Amino acid sequence: MVKVPKNPFLLGGYHSKEYFCDRESKLAGLNNHLHNERNIVLFSWRRMGKSSLIKRFLTEKEESGKVEAIFIDLLASRSVKQAIELIIEAVYQKFGTTEEGFSASFSKLIASLGIRLSFDPISGLPSFSLGLEEVKSHGENLKSIGNFLSGRKKQIVIAIDEFQQIVNYQEGNGEAVFRTFMQEFPNIRFIFSGSHRKVMTSMFSDSNRPFYKSCSLMGLGPISKEKYFPFIQYHFEEDNKSIDNETLELIYEWSRGQTYSIQLLCNRLYGSNHVPSTEAVEKIIEDILEEEAAVFSNYFHLLPKMQWQVLKAISKEGKVSNPLSKEFLTKHHLGAASSVNTALKSLSDKELLAWEEGEYFVHDLIFSRWLERRP
Ligand SMILES: Nc1ncnc2c1ncn2[C@@H]1O[C@H](COP(=O)(O)OP(=O)(O)O)[C@@H](O)[C@H]1O
Ligand SMILES: [Mg+2]
Repeated sequence: MVKVPKNPFLLGGYHSKEYFCDRESKLAGLNNHLHNERNIVLFSWRRMGKSSLIKRFLTEKEESGKVEAIFIDLLASRSVKQAIELIIEAVYQKFGTTEEGFSASFSKLIASLGIRLSFDPISGLPSFSLGLEEVKSHGENLKSIGNFLSGRKKQIVIAIDEFQQIVNYQEGNGEAVFRTFMQEFPNIRFIFSGSHRKVMTSMFSDSNRPFYKSCSLMGLGPISKEKYFPFIQYHFEEDNKSIDNETLELIYEWSRGQTYSIQLLCNRLYGSNHVPSTEAVEKIIEDILEEEAAVFSNYFHLLPKMQWQVLKAISKEGKVSNPLSKEFLTKHHLGAASSVNTALKSLSDKELLAWEEGEYFVHDLIFSRWLERRP
């Protein structure tokens, strides 16, 4: 039995269907791609729900008994070597052991990869590292892993989260290595996901890049109010509380539809002893902004003055279609368009600014909400 969470508004990723709101059409889309043997790229802004959606999808596919899936998060990886080690770790967790220890086929795989195996003295868990003097190239190692996975009876799905990392890998050829891996195993389905929209979409749609037109692209937007409000109401009612429409609107509007922020406000509201109301939500917003203040004010010291001014000006507007217009520059005392332009580029590269459908906004919603109040 899966443990029932004390608070139904989860912040730590996927738990079960019960606590997961909507995304039905995206799940159907993922299913359709999988069924028709297409590889998938899932992209959205941070904290919209990509990782959770993939986990729900894979959990249900595995429960149906026809699929076996591994999930790899590349966020902390800096090289192809580290990425491969993370893949081996995921393969180990899924297929590596029998009741007697390492499975024979997995032992064979790590022997062929020239892996150094060590055990954590406290947890006793194994960790895998590729030797410094590689026995084989990264491409060959991935091929061995692919062959191992292809030996399974069920459909294999490999989900690689935070895939935008590979663009900056030390070896410089991350995209080509992974593209070859994907091509060599047409029977394995791949789901790549990432939060840097521009990096992700250009990786898969620029004609001079290895992954060009190799996958179906799927974007993830906000969950609609029509789906989110009844979900929130249901969980409050389970706790014998009711939440009115005005309060729901405030939660959704303040969050600008971003899944994480909606969950955060609902989680706090549910966990407080207050009757749900707009006043209670406003108090929670104050608390959240105060808690985050230390981290956010640090950016002030880390960023050049102009970049800070531009971020603040955009936060105050919410979304800005033309930050170089005379009107915007004058209103926010920003000075020359050319220096604002340099700041915009730098802030976008750092992912502090996002750009969608012709408009700039501050990527981190809570940071944006904090900044808009700065004098
Ligand atoms: N459909 C959903 N219903 C309820 N909570 C969700 C849903 N999708 C995501 N979440 C929650 O929102 C937060 C952000 O989701 P996550 O999957 O980590 O986003 P991303 O991978 O896009 O950054 C997590 O705390 C997660 O629990
Ligand atoms: Mg994620």
